[in-house]
Amino acid sequence: SITRQRLVLGNWKMHGNQADNATLLSALAQGVQAGGTEVGVCVPFPYLAQAQQALSGSTVSWGAQDVSAQEQGAFTGEVSGAMLTDFACRWVLVGHSERRSLHAETDAQVADKAKAALAAGLTPVVCVGETLAEREADDTLAVIARQLAPVLALGAPAVSRMVLAYEPVWAIGTGRTASPEQAQDVHAAIRQSLEQLGAGGVRVLYGGSVKAASAASLFAMPDIDGGLVGGASLVADEFLRIAAA
Ligand code: G3P
Repeated sequence: SITRQRLVLGNWKMHGNQADNATLLSALAQGVQAGGTEVGVCVPFPYLAQAQQALSGSTVSWGAQDVSAQEQGAFTGEVSGAMLTDFACRWVLVGHSERRSLHAETDAQVADKAKAALAAGLTPVVCVGETLAEREADDTLAVIARQLAPVLALGAPAVSRMVLAYEPVWAIGTGRTASPEQAQDVHAAIRQSLEQLGAGGVRVLYGGSVKAASAASLFAMPDIDGGLVGGASLVADEFLRIAAA
């Protein structure tokens, strides 16, 4: 059987300033020990240099929250994968539900971004998840399959180098976590598609109101390999307890 290394990533979203970041980053650099769960933070673009400086030499890795599908050129406001690796990023979130809903990113664009991230040497963390209406219409697995289709079409060698994250939209920032069983059901379906492709070793994180109190029961599920943490990643102590769960 395949052992998948546990991974907990923070997604700061549009939060932070240099002073608060300094405190948070140094607490993480000191608080995360080598050899356990892998831990990283995805910070706003302007703070990548600060994250690199504060976390270099620690066991905590860093990354960004979005990337352009383009390599370079006249794309005002975009940030390329090569720019992220220039700051030694390891991760980049791709297709977060806030990008999909607020910036109209399509499934195909998300796959293009994942491909560009891989080409730049980053690990894309591809996020999928259904809305409450979709869940209530019993469309959850169909929505996930539709979102994943163009990503899986990139093929096993590419997908094997990614991380996936299941983030039910109704659980994001709402304090309403999916139950471990609800999350496991979706993770099992995702795992099955990955195995069919020949990429069963890919890690699938759960995201959506993960807190220290809920982390252990979620991470105990067989197909949940860790978490993608929003709000709770802004509080060093809480985030460290999630990583320890
Ligand atoms: O990417 C993480 C996320 O969307 C979950 O946010 O604040 O519910 O943990 P939060």
